Amino acid sequence: MTDTSQATLSPTRRAGSRKVFIKTYGCQMNVYDSQRMGDALASDGYVATQAIEEADLVLINTCHIREKAAEKIYSELGRIRKMKLERAAEGRELRVAVAGCVAQAEGEEIIARAPVVDLVVGPQTYHRLPQALSRVEKGERVVDTDYAVEDKFEHLPKAERKEIRARGVSAFLTVQEGCDKFCTFCVVPYTRGSEVSRPLARILDEARQLAEAGVREVTLLGQNVNAWHGEDAAGRPVGLGGLVFALAAIPGIERLRYTTSHPRDMDDELIAAHRDLPELMPYLHLPVQSGSDAILKAMNRRHTADDYLRLVDRIRAARPDIALSGDFIVGFPGESEADFDATMRLVEAVGYASAFSFKYSPRPGTPGAELTGHVEEAVKTERLGRLQDLIRRQQQAFSESLVGKTLSVLVEKPGRHPGQMVGRSPYLQPVVMSSGEIGEIVEVEIVEAVANSLMAAAPLSFERPERGGPFAA
Ligand code: SAH
Ligand code: SF4
Ligand code: F3S
Repeated sequence: MTDTSQATLSPTRRAGSRKVFIKTYGCQMNVYDSQRMGDALASDGYVATQAIEEADLVLINTCHIREKAAEKIYSELGRIRKMKLERAAEGRELRVAVAGCVAQAEGEEIIARAPVVDLVVGPQTYHRLPQALSRVEKGERVVDTDYAVEDKFEHLPKAERKEIRARGVSAFLTVQEGCDKFCTFCVVPYTRGSEVSRPLARILDEARQLAEAGVREVTLLGQNVNAWHGEDAAGRPVGLGGLVFALAAIPGIERLRYTTSHPRDMDDELIAAHRDLPELMPYLHLPVQSGSDAILKAMNRRHTADDYLRLVDRIRAARPDIALSGDFIVGFPGESEADFDATMRLVEAVGYASAFSFKYSPRPGTPGAELTGHVEEAVKTERLGRLQDLIRRQQQAFSESLVGKTLSVLVEKPGRHPGQMVGRSPYLQPVVMSSGEIGEIVEVEIVEAVANSLMAAAPLSFERPERGGPFAA
């Protein structure tokens, strides 16, 4: 997913002399990483700004997943170069840092191609940002993309309470990083390294800290989050199912989610958690990529379309109201019209609440890029159009099926119009309401499904949070 989001560090830190503008591309893990880089920089005296013109440091957290995502970075750097030259003419400095997956994949090449860049830091080394920046201040160009032996999370300063609050009542928490699956289209195993799980006790500590600051919903993140594994205090093995049970017991945490899951790592314990744990939201992102067994094999997904459909049946048997989302790639090398039809049939069989779909983009260094039988761009475009039409119709049908139903909504922020509040349904849809306080979970009747949101009638009941609400003074 290559949505862009603006600086994720909010401008609430103590006054300092230097300002940082952070721009984030890519997946939720990058959003979380940007927040943690913000924490590391704040402890070094940097204050966040939403205005790039004010910044002393511009930090771009990048995504390498598709060619377009990576190329965007260079056009962005072109614009920043102009800004840096204008500054230099005024005798002022502007430092430029590139972090994330393009940084990891391209390292020094970034500086060769875009000399405006002072610092390149990988996803495993950003805890060393302050040291790297002090070297930059002495006039060095720094590239720090080694896989660090130490655990970066242990070396990062904790977020301040008011910083956590400023980020909202729904928070991300990375529990697992990296990937050992090596799907033949994907750069993640190369940019994020092999699978590592954070220890249970550290995750619980961070979740308690979030809850104490007023967070009510936690989304656990990992490239293969359901491969997470740890040990309890007695040394017994715990899987993601056990982790969500432990997290649900933390006072204040009312809702849990996790993303992204691989179908092969969906175990019985996790499926049982969907059956038994009301805090675990009935929404699951479970990418399958294709409905054709030949293409799944060429992608090295190591499951068939039927394995996936049977897994979906087991999950739905455990939690009948679960809504599913997925990722699809069209036009993988060798994909015939019949292979693509199989994908359409799989989508019809599952019935998704939402899904992301992409044209295959050959990535340097991945086995997929070396395959023969690349599909023509026009064919990819046409197939993507058909798939997206079907997904759109399913999404609309799902939203309309909720009209007249009562849903619980976590109120997150004011809406666009005076008096309006916006929250999230259990299925992640934005819900627009006429009242509600941030941090409350309200029961509302859905009266209309519009574009990508749901409209609610006045709240039926409020569940008042303890401690007077997370945003109480
Ligand atoms: N770890 C997750 C997804 C990681 S990337 C998983 O296993 O599902 C997010 C999505 O980007 C993938 O699910 C895939 O649909 C898409 N993607 C990854 N590499 C791609 C490529 N080379 N071309 C097009 N889409 C790609
Ligand atoms: Fe990429 Fe596959 Fe790993 Fe997901 S499971 S991150 S698609 S290699
Ligand atoms: Fe992109 Fe890296 Fe995430 S390649 S999707 S930012 S893991």
